[in-house]
Amino acid sequence: MARYLITGIAGFIGSTLARALVEQGHAVRGIDNLSTGSLDNLAEIRSSIDFQQMDLLDAAGMRSACEGIDYVLHQAALASVPRSVKDPLASHESNVNGTLNLLIAARDAKVRRIVYAASSSAYGDQPTQPKQEAMSPLPLSPYAVQKLACEYYIQSFYRSYGLEGICLRYFNIFGPRQAADSPYSGVIAKFTTTMMAGQTPTIFGDGLTSRDFNYVENAVSANLLACLAPSSVATGRVFNIGTGESHTLNEVYAAIAGQLGFTAEPIYGPPRAGDIKHSLADIRRATDELGYQPKARFHEGLRKTVAWYLAEAEKKAPAAR
Ligand code: NAD
Ligand code: UD1
Repeated sequence: MARYLITGIAGFIGSTLARALVEQGHAVRGIDNLSTGSLDNLAEIRSSIDFQQMDLLDAAGMRSACEGIDYVLHQAALASVPRSVKDPLASHESNVNGTLNLLIAARDAKVRRIVYAASSSAYGDQPTQPKQEAMSPLPLSPYAVQKLACEYYIQSFYRSYGLEGICLRYFNIFGPRQAADSPYSGVIAKFTTTMMAGQTPTIFGDGLTSRDFNYVENAVSANLLACLAPSSVATGRVFNIGTGESHTLNEVYAAIAGQLGFTAEPIYGPPRAGDIKHSLADIRRATDELGYQPKARFHEGLRKTVAWYLAEAEKKAPAAR
């Protein structure tokens, strides 16, 4: 049994990680300021974890949260590109200053390793596909700059203080519990719930924008593997966590519409500021060095995801009737 601290534990990926670790019998502590996350995501495991409502910027709080911890899985962030374009300072505070605060606490508490939820947005709009870790980063949005800055901080904390760290550059993660109720929600959650409400989603751009959509179970397995990897790979190194396949927004729309029996054609709007056009991962480094395999495929993940949103709506239906 190991002791884990999950930051952003009430969020989509953090809560999925927490359920997996509790199932495996590990001790899980989690912090979250509940800015975009929800305690509903922790309902089944609330009594099995040590949850503390806390902001990453609370230095004393983060110091005590890191005490006795082996692995920090750092998921907390304001995780939206357009949100960072609208309010770069607020997302910088959480995403960069909050991470630095956490790193200081983790260093002082001598945690064994930090695994960081980095982002494929670091690659920007470079034409070369698939994206390889050796490529120079070219972040476009404030969010991408912030996520990349934290990779550099993690590398510098290894070099300066010996704090082991691994940066997992998630490509677009989707699955049950991804928030769907905000203008900043991920596209799959948004399309699904908009269609379920009988409304027509808007595709920003021409529909040919593509992403390497990766089901959340694959991100969970990458985190667990990153904790087990030998120290020689935990030196602030970066790993792509995608699937090696991409899908356009038109394909995503059609797949969700097909599953829901939704027949309206999409509305097309202008491209979104800060967006990149195409994103596709080369996952060989993660496969070779971490043993990562994206076992859950896109269509299977999408089926499970849409089924989850339908089941949630069904649970709420009696109250709505
Ligand atoms: P999410 O919004 O569901 O979860 C983030 C959690 O962090 C939320 O519960 C929120 O309340 C919490 N949080 C935000 N700021 C905080 C702060 N200052 N202090 C404490 N808690 C704070 O998002 P997610 O999709 O689960 O993303 C998790 C991580 O993965 C983020 O770091 C994000 O940048 C990264 N990421 C996500 C994706 C994706 O496709 N979802 C892709 C690449 C990287
Ligand atoms: C997502 C993540 C980000 C992560 C990045 C890494 C979310 C909310 N964002 O950003 O944290 O770092 O992947 O790859 O999880 N779109 C529409 N209509 C909509 C909503 C979105 O067409 O109603 C389009 C967007 O313009 C974009 C694409 O769908 O082209 C994906 O958008 P989104 O789900 O917000 O994710 P990313 O911006 O790629």
